[in-house]
Amino acid sequence: MIKGGRANFGSRMGVILASAGSAVGLGNIWRFPYETGNYGGAAFILIYLGCIFLLGLPIMVAEFVIGRRSQTNTAGAYQRLAPGTHWRWLGRMGVLAGFLILSFYSVVAGWTLEYVMEALGNGFAGKTPDEFIQSFQSFSSNPWKPTIWLVAFLLFAHFIIVKGVEKGIEKSSKILMPLLFVLILVLVGCSVSLPGAKSGIEFLLKPDWSKVDSNVFLGAMGQAFFSLSLGMGCLCTYASYFNKNTNLTRTAFSVGIIDTLIAILAGFIIFPAAFSVGIQPDAGPSLIFITLPNVFQQAFSGAPWLAYIFSVMFYVLLALAALTSTISLHEVATAYLHEEFKLSRKRAAWLVTGSCMFLGVLCSLSLGIGKGLTLFGLNLFDLFDYVTAKIMLPLGGMFISIFVGWYLDKKIVWEEITNNGTLKVGVYRAIVFILKYIAPVAIGVIFINELNLI
Ligand code: PHE
Repeated sequence: MIKGGRANFGSRMGVILASAGSAVGLGNIWRFPYETGNYGGAAFILIYLGCIFLLGLPIMVAEFVIGRRSQTNTAGAYQRLAPGTHWRWLGRMGVLAGFLILSFYSVVAGWTLEYVMEALGNGFAGKTPDEFIQSFQSFSSNPWKPTIWLVAFLLFAHFIIVKGVEKGIEKSSKILMPLLFVLILVLVGCSVSLPGAKSGIEFLLKPDWSKVDSNVFLGAMGQAFFSLSLGMGCLCTYASYFNKNTNLTRTAFSVGIIDTLIAILAGFIIFPAAFSVGIQPDAGPSLIFITLPNVFQQAFSGAPWLAYIFSVMFYVLLALAALTSTISLHEVATAYLHEEFKLSRKRAAWLVTGSCMFLGVLCSLSLGIGKGLTLFGLNLFDLFDYVTAKIMLPLGGMFISIFVGWYLDKKIVWEEITNNGTLKVGVYRAIVFILKYIAPVAIGVIFINELNLI
């Protein structure tokens, strides 16, 4: 639907699906479990939930306000709403964060393609947990295979973006998202009924507060921003395609609930299974790739064809979830280059794809032959992850809340949140209060503590 020269999402469902498609991805199924494992389980999850509801959702509404009001890409948005000020740097930082995320994200998305192939070729059958660990390690450190998959994935995403078949994705998401959800539920059932799964469930439900330090807070906050696609103008860019009837608060709430539910359920697949086969919960980025194949093998040991179908379906859906998030990341940079530098959309998209391919290949190699090359003790892959999720996104979120809470005229904020007074939004005052005081202070305190500034 084109209105006023700019594309619009067709329906309310389309709006929620596109935003949820951006939010739900590898962040939920790959990153959430491994961060939970790194930071010791239940206590991390509780702090994460606090970050989602107290910081994430109000900041999501703030991004929606900026995007829909300005009707342009994230960097242009600040120029329109705050002309001649330095706020445009906030938008630019978001674009840069998008580039960096896309680079390491597509490495992992490439891994999912390898696992789709493996699953299709029935490659998991008969392997032991140790063999799964070994085959992941030799695959991810191989200089060629992951690189080829990452390039293939980016080209695929690129093709969809320039052909403008996102609409097709939007439509198929209506089927695929619920399918992913049902599959996840089935897998939770399988995982919790494995022998020895109980300690995994305890790990998720019994908080051990003694392990909580400022690191855990930063980790949980970073994960919340990453998972909700927040702090870099992604949802702001999407909101520029919303129409004037979209209920911003309700959309934020729906997206937040869907995203959180999927992450928690992913935890309930991974940990019971990991504990059951003796895989360490802090295995890091490899966690889902070494744990899940075991779930398929063990839970369906009596019916190998079911194991086959489920594993193929799971990895295909995971790759598609990664694809919808990738498209949203790509869109931020593409819309920026297209609208700000007057490049054609096609050229802008090529520029983004090309540079991410280059950086992505470096990230991928940094897990194998480039292992020795580190900065602050982190290889490039981990460095990009750390800098974006734990610094740039929360920092972006902090300034977005200051922008909407303090800088932007309250009349604009009110008009956007209530759709010019046509909606009754009970939480309006609470949202503004959080954006003004709670979010900037909470994010600031977590940063200060982490950096040991006081
Ligand atoms: N939220 C996405 C996921 O969970 C990742 C993402 C981060 C997408 C930031 C866009 C912006 O996979």
